[in-house]
Amino acid sequence: MGPGPSDVHPRVLRAMSTPLVGHLDPSFIDIMNEVQELMRYTFRTDNKWTIPVSGTGSASMEAAIGNLVEPGDTMLVPTNGYFGGRMESMAERAGGEVVHVDAPWGEPLDPADVQDAFDEHQPDVFGFVHAETSTGVKQPGVPELTSIAHDHDALVVADTVTSLGGVELEVDDWGIDVAYSGPQKCLSCPPGASPLTLNDRAMDKVLSREEPPRSWYLDLSLLEGYWGDDRSYHHTAPITNVYAIREALRLVAEEGIEERWARHRRVAGALKAGVEAMGLGLNPEDEYWLPSLNAVLVPDGVDAGAAIDYVLDHYDLEIAGGLGALAGDIFRVGCMGHSARPENVSFLLTALGEALEAQGADVDPEAGFAAMREQLGQ
Ligand SMILES: Cc1ncc(COP(=O)(O)O)c(C=O)c1O
Repeated sequence: MGPGPSDVHPRVLRAMSTPLVGHLDPSFIDIMNEVQELMRYTFRTDNKWTIPVSGTGSASMEAAIGNLVEPGDTMLVPTNGYFGGRMESMAERAGGEVVHVDAPWGEPLDPADVQDAFDEHQPDVFGFVHAETSTGVKQPGVPELTSIAHDHDALVVADTVTSLGGVELEVDDWGIDVAYSGPQKCLSCPPGASPLTLNDRAMDKVLSREEPPRSWYLDLSLLEGYWGDDRSYHHTAPITNVYAIREALRLVAEEGIEERWARHRRVAGALKAGVEAMGLGLNPEDEYWLPSLNAVLVPDGVDAGAAIDYVLDHYDLEIAGGLGALAGDIFRVGCMGHSARPENVSFLLTALGEALEAQGADVDPEAGFAAMREQLGQ
């Protein structure tokens, strides 16, 4: 129950023991088509350009930024969490100029600040993090942000690593031009093949670049040969990871994307109610609460690292501490995909409650269980 990877669904693990076929085998091409179709369903998009990038979420992120940002372009990135910083590094390596829209860690971007940054810098590309894993903040009001960008003729890149398949996300309706994600969070699939989707406007920019992107491996104009109509060799796809993501996406479709969002809200809502009734606070305000990643405030006098070690040693349960500006101040408790089940919430409350009591913190685990049960209607 850390910030990812989440527990992998047993069906996904079984799919990973399927014997390999070649990456151009007709049966594998059928699987590629199915993965692309299921990924469109999960992203809520009709984008033709929807593929799993070979590599982790950062590969998909770099494919997005490294192809969209050309030398001399300006990219606007957020400062309100760890992953905005990674966007910045990638945009700089692509030869871009980086400008910032500021917000404190633990808060979302304010549309007025985004508007000001656009008026001042006229960026070509705007990146934001929909679900910031470092702070547990969900960016609200995405359509407002994308319309500011489009009014300035810029393209929007959304980091949906911790939201895809767990938190409401509407790529087409919200006007997101490019979204990238990872499989190891709300899709409960091992890392290795990472979702990416681009609309025609974004692909037009990619295909009309004056010079090729700096990465050969992630050059989308070359990857088009493999994932587009030709199905010709580009690199040997990670076959097993593609089997895995197909099974993970089939599970999303069987559950139904909206029902899956509702399950995350319901189970993580019980987690939130439980920790709050126990006497702990959550860092982000309720309006920005991210069900898939709960940033629980560390009570005064508690050593966060020792509590994290306690739950791992005594319960074999993984949670994480804060990063950057929130190091030592929060526990990061994931509630993602197959891990988002009521029995895990009760396990977490038991383990965390005991770990905090062991350090003399004033917490009330019984009140936590009662609030959890009430939320779950038990
Ligand atoms: C919001 C966000 N973006 C990007 C990444 C990078 O993904 P990966 O670690 O799979 O390369 C992560 C990983 O946790 C993330 O949480």
